[in-house]
Amino acid sequence: MSSLEKSKTGEAPPDLLPILRSSGVLTEKQFNDVRVKVLSGDYPNDARLLAERLIRERLLTEYQSRRLLLNKPSGLTLGKYVILDRIGSGSMGRVYKAQHQLMGRVVALKIIAPEIVSNERAIARFYREMRLVGKLDHPNVVRAFDADSWNNILYIVMEYVQGQSLAQLLKAGALPPADVVAYAAQASLGLAHAHEQGIVHRDVKPSNLLVSEDKQVKVLDLGLGVLMEADNHATFATADGIAVGTVDYMSPEQACGKEVDGRSDLYSLGCSMYHLMTGRHAFPGESPIERLGKRINGRPVPITDIKPELPASLVAVLDKLMATKPADRYQTGVEAADALNALIRPKKTPITAPAAPAPNPTPQPTPTTPAPAPEPQVIRVEPVYPRWFKPLAKFAQQKPKAALAATIGAFVAAVGIGFVVGYLLK
Ligand SMILES: Nc1ncnc2c1ncn2[C@@H]1O[C@H](COP(=O)(O)OP(=O)(O)OP(=O)(O)O)[C@@H](O)[C@H]1O
Ligand SMILES: [Mg+2]
Repeated sequence: MSSLEKSKTGEAPPDLLPILRSSGVLTEKQFNDVRVKVLSGDYPNDARLLAERLIRERLLTEYQSRRLLLNKPSGLTLGKYVILDRIGSGSMGRVYKAQHQLMGRVVALKIIAPEIVSNERAIARFYREMRLVGKLDHPNVVRAFDADSWNNILYIVMEYVQGQSLAQLLKAGALPPADVVAYAAQASLGLAHAHEQGIVHRDVKPSNLLVSEDKQVKVLDLGLGVLMEADNHATFATADGIAVGTVDYMSPEQACGKEVDGRSDLYSLGCSMYHLMTGRHAFPGESPIERLGKRINGRPVPITDIKPELPASLVAVLDKLMATKPADRYQTGVEAADALNALIRPKKTPITAPAAPAPNPTPQPTPTTPAPAPEPQVIRVEPVYPRWFKPLAKFAQQKPKAALAATIGAFVAAVGIGFVVGYLLK
């Protein structure tokens, strides 16, 4: 349904121009151009028709037009950013697609819900963490460009990732295990980079792992975990689906309220993989408390009960990611990524001619992991035999023991015959 159809349910304002102006979505020059065209009759005067025309001219988005026709111009800008569309919302706030008015860059803007940052301590913690997040620069991490407050609204400006989160992909059903392993390997590298900068995510889950259109996984919401923890743990008992909606991926040490490090994120990644491959949680239960308790005291439902066909090597990696004690897990994201990649790396490297070096190679940033060493290539050398010998060679290749016995037998027989013949001739 288009914005205009939707807005038909409400009364369109008699004059769109003043609403458009107060919204701030157009620059002064753009607004004046529109006004002149309306006054000269080039653009329609009717609010709905004008909005439709402005969408066609790409001066308004559907979302903006809907808001303006509902006479709700406020909130369509935030500082220098113009809100283009609403992407979604989560436990910490709303996410919008926005554009920097001067630079034109399209970004994702997360507005933190005021109740999450209700006290000075939480805000101070947020800014401290954002200083670390600003240093992150990795292809598997959603980049944060800016974090600030405007009119007491705390917001983060991030790279806009065109794609879907793994939680969205999961809605269509469990994902193929090979895809999940490949996604998790990328996520591990992104997490490793954050851990190296001293940031623990604390909320790794499918909805915080975005898959871009070119299948690159990007870890989302780094640095926001501290806000969740700044909220007091009393919410555990009551809130299933708000600040603690993430209990299903939480490590045992985090569930106990202990200090966490990067290994806690790897545990959460393991729980996410389990969920993505089976469509079920590793620790099912009626209430958040029951589910939390199980991961502290019990074992997950064996994944092979749900997916018996999973290879033992994959189950072993998953078990190590989800080991109850951090010391029994992979110790770094790089280690986990190596183990995951080893599951999907093709066994045989095809023998191809080496590519010619690029004439002017661009210097690449140092990757977090050294590129895996190429697997040794086994080159088969086929000997050339005369045609009559080929069946014998084939026999020797297929049954080497029998061929050896036959050769020895033939030799002994030849020597024996030689003796007999020699004796007779004497
Ligand atoms: N940088 C981004 N680029 C594109 N889409 C994004 C970006 N950040 C968030 N989104 C999308 O915005 C929506 C809301 O994200 P948000 O992180 O607020 O919710 P969530 O992950 O479901 O819950 P939580 O608040 O617990 O993390 C999701 O659909 C998410 O995929
Ligand atoms: Mg999120």
